[in-house]
Amino acid sequence: MFEQFTPAPPDAILGLTEAFKKDPNPRKINLGVGVYKDEAGNTPVLRSVRKAEERILQAEKTKTYLPIEGSPAYTAATQTLLFGAEHEVVQSQRAATAQAPGGTGALRVAADLIHKLMPGTRVWLSNPTWPNHPGIFQAAGLPIGTYPYFDATTNGVAFDAMLGALAEIPSGDAVLLHVCCHNPTGVDLTREQWHAVADVVAERGLLPILDFAYQGFANGLAEDAVGLLELARPGAELLVANSYSKNFGLYAERAGALTVVAKDAQGAETMLSHVKQAIRANFSNPPVHGGAIVSTILNDPALRREWEDEVAEMRDRINAMRHLFVETLNEKGVQRDFSFIARQRGMFSFSGLTPEQVKALRDQYAIYIVGSGRISVAGMTSDSMDYLCAAIADVLGK
Ligand code: LMR
Repeated sequence: MFEQFTPAPPDAILGLTEAFKKDPNPRKINLGVGVYKDEAGNTPVLRSVRKAEERILQAEKTKTYLPIEGSPAYTAATQTLLFGAEHEVVQSQRAATAQAPGGTGALRVAADLIHKLMPGTRVWLSNPTWPNHPGIFQAAGLPIGTYPYFDATTNGVAFDAMLGALAEIPSGDAVLLHVCCHNPTGVDLTREQWHAVADVVAERGLLPILDFAYQGFANGLAEDAVGLLELARPGAELLVANSYSKNFGLYAERAGALTVVAKDAQGAETMLSHVKQAIRANFSNPPVHGGAIVSTILNDPALRREWEDEVAEMRDRINAMRHLFVETLNEKGVQRDFSFIARQRGMFSFSGLTPEQVKALRDQYAIYIVGSGRISVAGMTSDSMDYLCAAIADVLGK
């Protein structure tokens, strides 16, 4: 039966890591996948995470199943982190949260939910977007579309084009928005722009799906939620898929959540019952360990402070790398203006490097970058900067 099939292509992002691992070049650098590196080039277990794990191991008495929607301590802490404890959405209990294996798991549950309750709904994605977005929604049987987002001439958001396109989307369709640290471009909306987007979403009756994978990596934990808060207007409905892979460094633990915001508490309860069905048919119930780490930290004031400091440390280091990268490219005599990279936020920047230049960096220097030219700034270190920028200067012909 299987002989008729030809191999599928490697994943655009995780496939690069597979190739990187096999590369014998000792100077190799992986700027493909969005994984944070410290100055020593390691992806550390956060100090707050270690402490939480020790507590969990001491206290753990069972490995029995979690409820389908996950641990109540985790889902409540997630809502508080997303909206703030006093927010109307939390206070009125019109949000229902379910634990999911990572942001990807949460997106897939959202997709299954839409497919079941509102079949045929088109999901509109930014152009460009994370390469896994189309795959997730299509795998759930949903049609996709795109709206303009990036303006290559300014290296910023093509906001007028974006807003114009959103205003043309048929009522009832879904629109996926990156809350902060847009992946792959690194360019985000301002508060005023979010406000205008929320107006269009309300006028057209669109369903926002918010992908919130990098909370804390742009400007701060609360600051990064500005788009979410603009959209969470009284009575507004939305889906939020958030991830703790990056801000807790819990990549391999697969900790995320899907939050459904309904018109009222009863609506949230109804939606949770459908979310639970989608989860049961997908992964049955969530893994416990990553979620326990997150809720232990978020529910303990001292651990939470320590974690917030660690998030700030990661954010500051990434921003320092952005500046050092631009400076070092200048030092190497690169003519092209890369100063926009210092203004962008999050793990990624769209470098504007062509597929040929990306290939040359990989073949000649063992520097791995996604084919679209997306660079993971979070993978740069001061030690590797000289080699990296000299290589880029070379492939650009300066
Ligand atoms: C990325 O975009 O590099 C990350 O979100 C990791 C992934 O799963 O692709």
